Amino acid sequence: VTAEVAIGGGGVSFFQHWDELASVRARPRRLVTGGLNGALLFPPEHVPMLAHPLVQERAEVTDILLAHSLYQYMYFTTAVEQYTVIPVTTRFAREGSDCVLPTPMRRDAFKICTDEAWHAQFSFEFIEDMAQATGVAPIALGEPAFVDQAERIKAELEPSLRPLFDIVFAIVTETLISKYLYDIPRDERLHAPVRETVADHAADEGRHHAYFRAVLRHLWPTLDRRQRTELGAVVPRLIVAFLGPDLPAARRMLRAAGFAGPLADEVVGDCYRHTPLEAAQAAATTAAFRELGALSDPRVREAFEQEGLAG
Ligand SMILES: [Fe+2]
Ligand SMILES: [Fe+2]
Repeated sequence: VTAEVAIGGGGVSFFQHWDELASVRARPRRLVTGGLNGALLFPPEHVPMLAHPLVQERAEVTDILLAHSLYQYMYFTTAVEQYTVIPVTTRFAREGSDCVLPTPMRRDAFKICTDEAWHAQFSFEFIEDMAQATGVAPIALGEPAFVDQAERIKAELEPSLRPLFDIVFAIVTETLISKYLYDIPRDERLHAPVRETVADHAADEGRHHAYFRAVLRHLWPTLDRRQRTELGAVVPRLIVAFLGPDLPAARRMLRAAGFAGPLADEVVGDCYRHTPLEAAQAAATTAAFRELGALSDPRVREAFEQEGLAG
């Protein structure tokens, strides 16, 4: 695979106009101004516990749970950048690194490091600003569940595969088009700064998506058969870990909203029973692996089928 092929044909970088387009360069820091005036902080449909009778009984907790859901989502963003993406793009950018990419891709990796550091920063700052504005302290924040789940999946792999695992996980997270990134900027019920800050992020992620697909097209043919099978077979579990509900976070939010431990457990147990992901949510990622023939390996295919993601 030559640089020209890897970089979306023609050797043109996805980041050609980065100086004019990147949110860190072109967009202001989104300040939390003005009152809520009835606007929502987060889409209620994405917070299943709001529909539970024990929660509905106490109307005053809805706004509190929406605030905590927003904070946790922002913190999730910070965690994805710091835990998953920045370490990998730093490896791509470094001279003498274990990942040798065509020069234009290496150059672009610096820009992604910068984009993601900014996303991590503004998401974190947004939580602090919003807590000031709403008076709801971010006391339910915690490490998103996907971090621990990914660590456990990684630990099951043979040590020699783990550096590649980190790259594959970054590819998975960057090619999944999060429903939040898509929905929140378009949701007119939401407070404007929430929509703006997520829209800034979404704009940059469109470029990252194309880049990471190209990284996968470059990487996959360089792997041997065993590496492809072992790594391909964990992709569906990584998708589920990344997109699935965060039960410990839901429990922390309920506790923060005043529910006693057993009640919080009951609500979480009722609202978040394992339901398979909609395959459509992961379609872009599944397609990226399928186009490289990854799913023609029986073990990989079976792993996708098991999670309902084979399509
Ligand atoms: Fe990002
Ligand atoms: Fe990204």
